[in-house]
Amino acid sequence: MQHRRIGPVEVSAIGLGAMPMSMAGRPDTDRALRTVHAALDAGVTLVDTADAYALGAEDVGHNESLIARALASYGGDTSGVLVATKGGHTRPGGDAWALDGSPEHLRAACEASLTRLGVDAIGLYQFHRPDPQVPYAESIGALRELADAGKIRMAGISNANPEQIRQARQILGDHLVSVQNQFSPAYRDSEPELRLCAELGLAFLPWSPLGGIGRAGGLGDRFATFARIAEERGVSPQQVCLAWQLALAPVVVPIPGASRPETIRDSAAAADLVLDEQEIAALNAAG
Ligand SMILES: NC(=O)c1ccc[n+]([C@@H]2O[C@H](COP(=O)([O-])OP(=O)(O)OC[C@H]3O[C@@H](n4cnc5c(N)ncnc54)[C@H](OP(=O)(O)O)[C@@H]3O)[C@@H](O)[C@H]2O)c1
Repeated sequence: MQHRRIGPVEVSAIGLGAMPMSMAGRPDTDRALRTVHAALDAGVTLVDTADAYALGAEDVGHNESLIARALASYGGDTSGVLVATKGGHTRPGGDAWALDGSPEHLRAACEASLTRLGVDAIGLYQFHRPDPQVPYAESIGALRELADAGKIRMAGISNANPEQIRQARQILGDHLVSVQNQFSPAYRDSEPELRLCAELGLAFLPWSPLGGIGRAGGLGDRFATFARIAEERGVSPQQVCLAWQLALAPVVVPIPGASRPETIRDSAAAADLVLDEQEIAALNAAG
């Protein structure tokens, strides 16, 4: 497994996005645990979660608790696994999502995540999404306080634009190590943020790198060039997609979601698929 860096921490070049194991259509607990264990068996040492990955208000924290349980029951050494969680989204009820970027909420959310993950400090704590009701500097200031208090080892931001990345960097200094934005063959609008991360040496974590839950399986049907190269290489279009993202910059660390052992095993293998320049150019141009 190829490795990359998030701040000073070395992680597998492909992470596990844990969200599909807590949303509608989620697997039973046994399959979810087997999925996380399959990721660890494949050498994955980055797991992305969030307090809000849950079915509603009563279920908040489902995904974090699942990850904690999977790590505890693994049987192997998990000390090198970086768990990246997030705060700043709330689940007011039903399928609804809302925002709360207030320092009070972020402090309380971080405490709850610490408890669910069963750790003294969170490896990577990401501000999930800017809250228009709260000045960005106030939300990021709360992360700075959490870092200074030793509650989080590293800080990240998500769904941020270039101006917000620069502002967060000013407030957080070296505590800021990553940016997590949507990026996939269908959604390339975050390319400016990807390029800025490469320039600043911040890890860039593409979310929904395969197009998102419910769409990822059909990637090859929607993108002929990805399907063609996959066929020539004898691998899945999803593997080609992740290898393409890795080729865009050394700071890119995709976090494909999975709810089955087979899919994360297949995705993890993308870390060892090296595309040539012609293939990368064709994939860059493929709309
Ligand atoms: N920061 C944010 O605002 C934000 C927003 C959305 C997501 N995220 C994070 O990003 C992660 C990834 O995004 P996502 O889960 O929404 O979408 P995704 O990674 O684009 O797609 C996930 C789906 O891809 C399927 N899949 C994975 N590898 C595959 C393979 N090799 N072949 C075929 N199918 C494959 C999985 O199927 P199975 O379920 O059948 O295994 C899964 O349901 C999330 O899990 C979450 O951690 C962050």
